Amino acid sequence: MPAARCSQPGFGVISTDEEGPHEDRPDEARKPWSQRAHDGQLEPGGDHDTWLILAGRGFGKTQAGVEWIAEQVLARPNLRIALVSATVEEARDVMVLGISGFLALRPEVVEKWVPSRGEVHFVGGSIGKLFSGANPERFRGFQHHLAWCDELAKWRKAMDSWDNLQFGLRLGEHPKALVTTTPASSEALETILADRHTVVTRGTTFDNPHLPKRFLDKMLELHGHTHKGRVELYGEMPPPAGAL
Ligand SMILES: Nc1ncnc2c1ncn2[C@@H]1O[C@H](COP(=O)(O)OP(=O)(O)OP(=O)(O)O)[C@@H](O)[C@H]1O
Ligand SMILES: [Mg+2]
Repeated sequence: MPAARCSQPGFGVISTDEEGPHEDRPDEARKPWSQRAHDGQLEPGGDHDTWLILAGRGFGKTQAGVEWIAEQVLARPNLRIALVSATVEEARDVMVLGISGFLALRPEVVEKWVPSRGEVHFVGGSIGKLFSGANPERFRGFQHHLAWCDELAKWRKAMDSWDNLQFGLRLGEHPKALVTTTPASSEALETILADRHTVVTRGTTFDNPHLPKRFLDKMLELHGHTHKGRVELYGEMPPPAGAL
């Protein structure tokens, strides 16, 4: 397959598959996502409206989001997709330009990254637009088939942003959201967890076989037996605010 090329103002035209996490294992990178994913990174079957990946740091949440959207735009044309992070800058730097972002991992599904509009133009006419979980009003007027919400538990106005996103998640037969987050005390996250239309997959930092052993050993030593470690590494929900 020819190198996918993406235009990024300020960087000129770059070939995004000349470097990145898969450069030392090209055969692995060519396998379909269903064969590269580890447990918890693939959407379960069923009739849910929201798929929540609730997992520890470095589990592979962001990569799972990128790969899920990539598979969706390859399967269907002309999707309108909300890409939501704590801020628009974070959505850009992590979801689009990051090491686990679209341009690094799935450049072949990206036609064009348009920073001035905060839009990723995908193959098949689909468009992903960046939103901030700190700016709920911004969702008004937009309609979507799909949404991917990264690190929702740390959005500054998570409940209002989630609600406003849901009001516009109304295109196509079965609008759907993927939420990828490390747990934290959050009304929005607790609401999503309690919703009968949510399906949850879980995982820990140690479930990602692609992280260096040295890092995992250090995390275990520093945080393996602490409250912080239970939340950040093992992906356990902290008690609701006020419960202690
Ligand atoms: N199935 C996979 N195959 C190969 N590499 C993977 C896979 N899943 C994750 N990785 C790699 O593991 C690293 C961590 O993944 P990612 O950034 O998606 O984790 P995360 O859970 O979003 O982390 P954080 O908690 O920091 O947001 C990245 O380099 C990513 O590309
Ligand atoms: Mg991430």
